[in-house]
Order: sequence, then structure tokens, then C-alpha cells
Amino acid sequence: MRTIHSLNQDWTFIKAEHPADGAGVPVTLPHTWNAEDGQDGGDDYYRGKCWYLRDLDRPEATENSRVWLEFEGAAMTAEVYLNGEKLAEHAGGYSTFRVDLTDHLKDHNKLAVSVSNARSRTVYPQQADFTFYGGLYREVRLILVPETHFALGYHGGPGVKITPVVDLETRAATVMAEAWVEGPAHDAEVTFTLAGQTQTVPVADGCARADFTIENVHLWDGLNDPYLYTATASLSSGDAVSARFGCRKFEIDPQKGFLLNGRSYPLRGVSRHQDRKGAGNALTPAMMEEDMAIIKELGANTLRLAHYQHTQYFYDLCDENGLIVWAEIPYITMHMHDGRENTLSQMTELVVQNYNHPCIAVWGLSNEITAASAVNEELLENHRALNDLCHTLDTTRPTTMANVFMLDIDSPILEIPDVNSYNLYFGWYLGELEQNDEFFDEYHAKFPDRCIGFSEYGADANPAYQSPTPEKGDYTETYQCVYHEHMLKMIEARPWLWATHVWNLFDFGADGRDEGGKNGENQKGLVTFDRQLKKDAFYLYKAAWNHTEPFVHLCGSRYVDRTEEVTEIKVYSNQNEVSLYVDGKLFGTAQGHVVFSFQVPISGEHTIEARAEDCTSVMLVRKVAEPN
Ligand code: GCU
Repeated sequence: MRTIHSLNQDWTFIKAEHPADGAGVPVTLPHTWNAEDGQDGGDDYYRGKCWYLRDLDRPEATENSRVWLEFEGAAMTAEVYLNGEKLAEHAGGYSTFRVDLTDHLKDHNKLAVSVSNARSRTVYPQQADFTFYGGLYREVRLILVPETHFALGYHGGPGVKITPVVDLETRAATVMAEAWVEGPAHDAEVTFTLAGQTQTVPVADGCARADFTIENVHLWDGLNDPYLYTATASLSSGDAVSARFGCRKFEIDPQKGFLLNGRSYPLRGVSRHQDRKGAGNALTPAMMEEDMAIIKELGANTLRLAHYQHTQYFYDLCDENGLIVWAEIPYITMHMHDGRENTLSQMTELVVQNYNHPCIAVWGLSNEITAASAVNEELLENHRALNDLCHTLDTTRPTTMANVFMLDIDSPILEIPDVNSYNLYFGWYLGELEQNDEFFDEYHAKFPDRCIGFSEYGADANPAYQSPTPEKGDYTETYQCVYHEHMLKMIEARPWLWATHVWNLFDFGADGRDEGGKNGENQKGLVTFDRQLKKDAFYLYKAAWNHTEPFVHLCGSRYVDRTEEVTEIKVYSNQNEVSLYVDGKLFGTAQGHVVFSFQVPISGEHTIEARAEDCTSVMLVRKVAEPN
């Protein structure tokens, strides 16, 4: 049996290039040294090498146990020393890696881990609009396994790979179960169990495989019914692992868009970064569960987990809640001549470590990589290598990439991934809202056989800023609504957009930003960085996507003092009729879809109430004189 011990406690953190050069402070993992300075603006957060030290006693184990050390995330590079001997190093801040300590352990040991988020010419990300937090910011564990055990040393993977293929005609699924074994395995056998069936097969060349058929399969059906099976694999040595999996069919068609289990299922959702106000990227499970609850309230059916590999726990939450996920590596903004190896190693880890998650639909090769780099042969070759790597590691999922809006739609790089997507900011950074419609219509007409998605779009909004005359770039909550109302209409008219992801669900840490009245934050979120405030635009998408229960939302509750004689009162609802009451008297009733607008004369202090079905939303507005 394998035993897992948490190693989150009893660390000493030293913020210095050399352990002897700094004072140690006690910390508990997950930990980042940029929780404060990475979110306060100035682009001056600490980037460098730091140290985490702890004592480590040889764990109580039978004499033939192997002892592995597991890191779920060390940003951005790490070196692992035991009793002064360097045992391992890892380059990539978002993936799991492990170290076999067994042959180096004494009864009492000194464990030292250096972690660095210093600038690098070889490790991604180096240039992007988010804070590159440093630290041991995810779980650290000891894993004790028998001499013969399921692989722990293959790119941080789970040691078991489950490949379900659904036949919608026969309503059956074939499931290939594979497992890899480390240690003496001359006459070893693996017993696989799944869906009430068991097969025991010999290990050959370190690998075991069994094929199953599930008749009348219970489909993993997105938000409707994210049903999960569990496969287990066990060895006569006593080691055992399990992996949940989902039986579903994803298709992406140039004209029909995304299909789930044979039916049209346009992916409509948001992006998420893995940080939060005050915590940096050192999140607790409760924080992630809160994020998922907000996503469920929104009614999104897809998430782009940008711009890097997220924690296993969050992919698990997506499996359990039926979100369909775009997963990606941080090959972003600027290509580095010496970074090719790191793109391949980060992609290998992303795919090997997350292959079994039914939520994942596509592997993202890069994000806006031509923003600061030419489309030359070196860039194209790096993308071809990544694309081929994904197809080698995973024959079941397509690849994609998020392109910057300046990239010419005739660029050869668009021919590399299986499906494409663009990040467009017309109507925010430049140009007009209608250019988003024109862009996609032109692309779709020119390339009717290519799948195209909308991987990013958004507008910054500081909820403290309101305006009767909203305009792009003003950072008002008011304009963010105008922007997203247009985008929602544009998207709803184009079901062939296989996926659309609002940038971003949450405001996030970007220490290089000092605008819009908030330092250190990108404010394109539909929800504030601390998760405490859902901006009005959140309710626009909730009205469009969440039909589980009626609701109505008055926009502009933070716009109390108004100078205009006649003010617009906007209402979002998932019902098709809304009534507005002013000071208790019916002002008007409107039929519509999602957005309802009323022009209301104001002359003092007014109680405004919107009603739909038996839901209500109330706010106060006050007519004030023009500031002189
Ligand atoms: C880009 C980029 C994001 C960034 C966004 C923005 O599209 O991919 O990482 O945050 O623009 O400018 O808000």
C-alpha cells in the first residue's frame, strides 16, 4: 500500500540567494514570497532565488519501501538538496515533479530547496501581463511505496492512463487501461478494476494494459451530468493507484462549432488565473472551491485555465462540475531562442499529468506568441514540435493556440494547431466593438473549413467608476456592461465559434499595471480580485447562461448620485419580462432577452425596483446638480 505524508509544515524560509545570507522565518506551505509585493503595482516585486529548509526524519516504513518527495508547484525553477547533496532540479513553475530520496536518506536529514523566479532566458513565462509569483506555492508530500510500484518518475505523472472512447450509436464505451511499473517486476501482474469489471494482466517491459467495454455507458455530459467512473490498478506488491475518468465525445466542427456527445454545445465561458488578493498563487482548497461556486453561479460551461498548468485539485473540480477546459502551457508573448526545451518539457508534464481528466478538451500551444516575436522558421518549428508532441502523448485531443489580434489571418502559424482561436480587444484597447464581428465573419468566410474560437476578450472596470456617458478605456463598470452586451450578442449570433472565453472571470495580479485607480491589478474581471464583489457584467452572462433559477439584477447600484435629468436604468434577467417600479409605482414593463433598459426621469432620491417572476432587485438613485 502506498502511504502519503504531507510536508507542508515546519519549513524555514530564507529570502536570499544563499541560505547563509538571510534570516530564516517559519512558514507553512503553500507559500509565495510575492503575496503582497506582487499585487501592489510598480512592477517591482521580488524576483530572485530563495530557500526553503526543513529537517526530515527517515519515515517509518518497511525495509523495502521507496521514499519519493513530491512537489505540486515550485515557481519557477527549483533545486533539491538532501544533506547538502543536490538530487534534482526542475524548470517550470506550474507542474508536479518528484525526487526519489530512498538511497540518500539517513535517519535524520536536512532538506533544502532553492526556488527562483528570477529572469531567465530559457524558462517560460518571461514576458506577460500577470505576476510571476515565486515560491513553493502548492502542496509538498512524501510518498512511500513498495519496491515494485506504479511509476512516480515519469514526468510527474499518475502512473496510470485511462482512454475511454464512446460509440454514440451503440451507447457503449471501450476503455483502454494502461499502467507503468517501476522496480523489480519480473513476474508482476496488474489487476485493473473499473465499472464493476476486473482484469489481471502481466507486466511486460514495465507496462501493463487491459481493454474493457462498458455497455449502456453513463456519459460524462458536461454541466448536465458530469458522471465519473473510477479505475483502480493494483500490484501484488501492495501498491495501488486509482484514476477517475469520464466517458464523453468531444467534436469541434468548422461550421457547427463544439459538440458534446453528438449534440451542439457551444463552449461559452471565462478564463481564470490562479491567484487571489492577499494570497498570491498560494491558494487553499477552500479558495478554489469558492471560485468554482462562483463559476457555477455564472453558468459558464467552459473554462480557459490560463496561462499555465493549474493545480490537480482545480482540474478535479472541473471534472466533478462538468466544466470543459482549455489547458495550456505558459509559452507566451515572446519566443525565446533558448526556451524550446522548456516548452517541450512543460507540455510533456501538462499532458502526462492531466491526460485522465475528462474536463480537458484541448491543449493550448501558446498565447499571443507573435505579440513580441516574428513568425519565422524558428517560431514555426517550435510550434510544430509542440503540436507533434501533443499528438504523440495524446491521440484523443486536438491542439489549439490563442493568437494576438494583430496576427494576419493568412499567417502560416495558424495552419499548425488543429483548431484556432483569437484574442481580440477591439472596443477596448483600440477600434470599435463592431470590428469583433467583422473579424470573425471575415475569417470564417475565408476559411470555412477551419475551426475558430474566441479565446480572449474583455474590458477593465473599477466598480468605483460609473458614468452616464460610458466610453472605451474609461475603466467604468458602466462601459464594461456596454462592451459585454455587444460581445454577448455577437457571440450568440455565431454558434460556429467553438469556444468563447471572457478575459477574465476574476481581476488578477499584474504588478506592472498601475491604471484604472488600482495598482497591480488587471481589472477585466467580472468579479473583483478578492472575490467579494460581482460586477454588473457578471449578471449579464449569468442571465444568458444560468437558467437553473429565475433572477433579476439592477445595474448601477454603485451609481447613486446622478447628474442627468433622465437616467438609464438597465436590468439583467434570465426571464423574458421585467417590470420596473420607481418609488413603489409601476414605471414600465419590458419584454426581451437578458438586457432590459428603461429611461427614467429623476428629480430627487428614488427607490428603484426591478421585478421578474417573484424575484426582485432594489437600489437607490439620487439626482444631484452638475459639479460646478
Ligand atoms: C492579452 C493576454 C492576457 C492579458 C490581456 C489584457 O490578450 O493574453 O494575458 O491579460 O491581453 O491585456 O488584459
